[in-house]
Amino acid sequence: MATVTVRYGDGSTRTSSYGEPVTILRACADMGVSVYAPCGGRGVCGGCKIKARGALSAMTEAESARLTERERADGVRLACMAYAVGDVEVFADDDVVSRAGMRADGVGNIGVAVDIGTTTVAVSAVDMVTGVRIGELTRRNPQSSFGADVISRITAVGKYGVDALRAPLCAMIDDMRHVLGAPDGARTVVVGNTTMLSIWAGIDPTPIGTAPFTPPTLFGFEMCGAYVPRCVSSYVGADAVASALAAGLYDEDNVVACDIGTNGEVIAKEGGVIRACAAAAGPALEGAGIECGMAALPGAIDSVTFDGVGIDVHTVGDADAIGICGSGLISAAAALHDMGALSGTGVLRGGRFELADGVYITQSDIRALQLAKGAVRAAVDTVCGGADKLCLSGGFGSGLDIGACVRIGLVPSALAENVTVLGNGAIRGAEMMLTSDEFVRKADEIAKNAAYIELSGSSDFESRFVECIDF
Ligand code: FES
Repeated sequence: MATVTVRYGDGSTRTSSYGEPVTILRACADMGVSVYAPCGGRGVCGGCKIKARGALSAMTEAESARLTERERADGVRLACMAYAVGDVEVFADDDVVSRAGMRADGVGNIGVAVDIGTTTVAVSAVDMVTGVRIGELTRRNPQSSFGADVISRITAVGKYGVDALRAPLCAMIDDMRHVLGAPDGARTVVVGNTTMLSIWAGIDPTPIGTAPFTPPTLFGFEMCGAYVPRCVSSYVGADAVASALAAGLYDEDNVVACDIGTNGEVIAKEGGVIRACAAAAGPALEGAGIECGMAALPGAIDSVTFDGVGIDVHTVGDADAIGICGSGLISAAAALHDMGALSGTGVLRGGRFELADGVYITQSDIRALQLAKGAVRAAVDTVCGGADKLCLSGGFGSGLDIGACVRIGLVPSALAENVTVLGNGAIRGAEMMLTSDEFVRKADEIAKNAAYIELSGSSDFESRFVECIDF
């Protein structure tokens, strides 16, 4: 008999028992506990790290190879590879990735903005009278246990039905609204990529995953008690439109707005013409899918500098280094290149570089970064050659060093002086729409007027991508 007990930081627990050994991932899923499992539990990504103790299966070589020495000593296991063979305790993080502001209790007229990302879900509460944000929460998308990207979620919908993915998402959003003190019936704007919005709305997203990639709907209407802005296409969602709105794309010209998530979604306006495209970037720029990767939380290395002799690292919250987030990865690559430890083609001397005690960067991390920055840069160059201004938004972490972005080739050097970093531009745009019908109209115009450029199969994009791979 195997019994798995999940312990939360607040002292609460959940327990599930089985007649035979069970993976921690399966037991957690049965109990509705979200575990990040980018490869969907195939044991290849190393992303499903969780702290567990008790009667667990012995660690295989493959599992051990995906953990650092410190993690092994701390009792970290891969949830998809470790089996409970008797009584096991699992220690769940509070899945609140970040939290800001205060509860909205006492504020009269509250609106709610929601951004459903593939990796994280952000909810903010806004005072509708002043337009001021009064609280914000970000949590991991509970669908993460079905895989890291939209295709794995679409596959999961085909296997388990849309409600299996919709119900935990809606329950979590309701809980986040409640934590923020937003009343039932509060005006709500929901943005996200087209797949996430479809699942949230209970619409089968399968057509998005199969050629000719026709979305079941592009939204642009009220549903489920919320306004859902219009998407451009299957792969340029209302999140990218909201980011473009926050970037000022409606009122300005020669602007490119780039929303960097697992997909890089780019909307540009040049000479009054709006173009949009999307490129698969992978999650490296969000600090996921890399060996010591993490979100931009306390302890994440977010900046690395080379002073001519050695390197210096900075962490979020000045805490001890425990991992590296997207901005840290970009900055580390630039610093290692400056010090000669990383070649122009991306070969890391020795295959691994220790940035801090137990936190290191590997050759495969560098390769993931090269693919991500190559895809994003090639997408930007494809839709807009002559922009004067670039707005970057995404979960790479605050303090993104634009100099490092230019040095690794993510940002064109001609725009170095005119880059704005918006943080989560999608939720900023959703907040704008929440408080002004004028912004709703502008976002709708952006989405309707954007000409979508399909990059897959585009030889122009392919050749740019190859050119953009090197540092
Ligand atoms: S290694 Fe466990 S989910 Fe990928």
